Amino acid sequence: MTRIRVLVTLALAALVGAAVPAIASAAVPKVPQSKFDVVENCGCHTAFLEQWRTTMHSKALVDPIYQLKLSEANRATNGALGPFCETCHGPVAAMAGLVGKKGKSRSGSAAEAVSCDFCHQLTGTAMPPGNFSWRIDANGVKRAQLKDALSPAHETAYSNYHEQAAFCGVCHNVNHPANGLPLEATYTEWSKSEYAKQGITCQDCHMTPGAGVTKPNPGRASGLGPERPHIYTMTWAGGNVGLGNAALAEERLKGAATLELEAQEIVEPGKKAEIAVTVVNSGAGHYLPTGLTDVRECWLQVTVTDAGGSKLVSERHDFNTVLADARGRFPAEVWDAVSVKSDTRIPPKGSKTFTSEYAMPQDGGVTVEAVLNYRSCSEKMAEEAGVKIPTTEMAKSVLAVFSSPEEAAAAEREAAARDGRNPDQGLKNLAIIAVIGLAALFGVIGVTVLRARRTARGK
Ligand code: HEC
Ligand code: HEC
Ligand code: HEC
Ligand code: HEC
Repeated sequence: MTRIRVLVTLALAALVGAAVPAIASAAVPKVPQSKFDVVENCGCHTAFLEQWRTTMHSKALVDPIYQLKLSEANRATNGALGPFCETCHGPVAAMAGLVGKKGKSRSGSAAEAVSCDFCHQLTGTAMPPGNFSWRIDANGVKRAQLKDALSPAHETAYSNYHEQAAFCGVCHNVNHPANGLPLEATYTEWSKSEYAKQGITCQDCHMTPGAGVTKPNPGRASGLGPERPHIYTMTWAGGNVGLGNAALAEERLKGAATLELEAQEIVEPGKKAEIAVTVVNSGAGHYLPTGLTDVRECWLQVTVTDAGGSKLVSERHDFNTVLADARGRFPAEVWDAVSVKSDTRIPPKGSKTFTSEYAMPQDGGVTVEAVLNYRSCSEKMAEEAGVKIPTTEMAKSVLAVFSSPEEAAAAEREAAARDGRNPDQGLKNLAIIAVIGLAALFGVIGVTVLRARRTARGK
């Protein structure tokens, strides 16, 4: 048994060492860098340029978290894995052969990561998409979904491919280059979801304003172009609040999930009670979280706190994937992974319920709180990469539980007073309204009487 395991490990080590560059270079077409315009040349589309600059697509090569993991991957595989990674994070550089080898300088379009002219020259993919399975013409024709685009700067062509989720799937499905294990499966997750059945694509959520599908989004595709009933944005906000467009990422995270908190309103002192928290993936068109889920941190924190501030319950439930290596050790790095040890994420439109129990204290009620949090990576990893990655509160729900009906009523009165809806105050207000009303009524009668008198006199 042990010997077989060792053999498997050795075989994998050999595969990772030898087969990775071969697979990477075999799948990617060779295209010289000169075939790609630098982003600056797309200046007619100022708004899109500004959007793109804030995205992880424009930062995919220089991203410090990426750089950290890239150097770890290279160290672990003696430099063999680098070209594989760089093919998605810097496709123009990869197709021009400017990856992996130290000392090769990259500038212009090769340094621009996932750029306008890369995406807009793509023509198709092998199915199912993944591991940079794209096809490209690189003949200078810019392709997108518009059927009547006319540009003085370049040729244009209609592309049905750009309207499909598979367009994104070429990179948003990452399989282990040696053993095929799905490491990131956003496209696959989406393709099995209700969204795919309804024809709601990645583009509909990630290339429109707002957290969900915001269509139509009227506007101009270029400064020179006509006003159109719908255009897509080049924003691709995900969960990366620290390095991407913070405002858009936060909005996306807050639109991804809802929390349902259930607790008995009154529990007698000393009695045990149960609370239930349900997390619903109500807004993401794939698992929550998705992508690099061995690195992302998404978790539910459930606490029950007594009147004195002590925690009676404090539970953390993580939504992630844990990878295992050939010897069954976990968590394993993606390059060592041969299997998924556990997957606790929430499927699209799916939910997970967690229950906890506590005993009501003798002196007063408790507060039940459920918070769903997200961070792009651990604090440790962020520190190693020299960046600040914040924790974002995706959803929060709070309930008060009382130890007697009297306590509940007292709390209700207090809350009402805070909101200015004190029942006593309400009565006073009513009285004041009545007085003003009466005064106004008498005033009107008075004026009418006076008028009547004047009219009588005038006659
Ligand atoms: C990750 C790939 C990708 C990148 C990078 C990208 N685009 Fe797009 N773009 C698309 C896709 C896909 C569509 C069509 C979406 C659809 O039809 O569902 C599109 C649509 C467009 C359109 C048509 C009008 C519209 O917005 O609907 C224009 C013009 C455009 N992009 C320009 C740009 C410019 C300029 C840049 C760089 C600043 C850029 N794109 C970067 C993928 C990309
Ligand atoms: C050439 C490969 C490639 C293509 C094609 C591509 N992406 Fe990406 N995308 C990436 C990479 C690489 C990153 C991560 C960059 C990083 O974080 O360093 C990324 C990041 C993202 C993020 C941000 C994730 C976060 O954590 O905030 C979103 C959202 C996204 N892509 C959506 C899309 C959509 C939608 C499409 C199709 C229209 C698409 N991508 C096409 C490579 C690609
Ligand atoms: C129904 C809307 C919707 C659809 C469809 C959708 N997404 Fe998302 N996506 C979201 C929301 C909301 C989030 C933020 C929550 C999260 O991180 O999962 C998100 C997050 C992401 C992230 C960041 C992942 C993370 O957790 O760090 C990536 C990458 C991404 N989406 C890519 C895609 C791709 C590629 C597709 C198509 C195959 C797609 N999305 C389809 C709504 C959608
Ligand atoms: C087939 C395309 C593809 C390949 C190959 C690939 N990546 Fe990525 N990478 C992506 C996409 C897409 C994302 C965004 C997913 C998400 O946001 O969850 C991403 C995100 C990342 C991130 C997260 C960055 C951040 O700021 O949070 C890191 C780190 C990363 N990749 C490292 C690597 C390393 C190291 C390799 C090589 C071992 C690699 N990638 C190979 C497509 C790829």
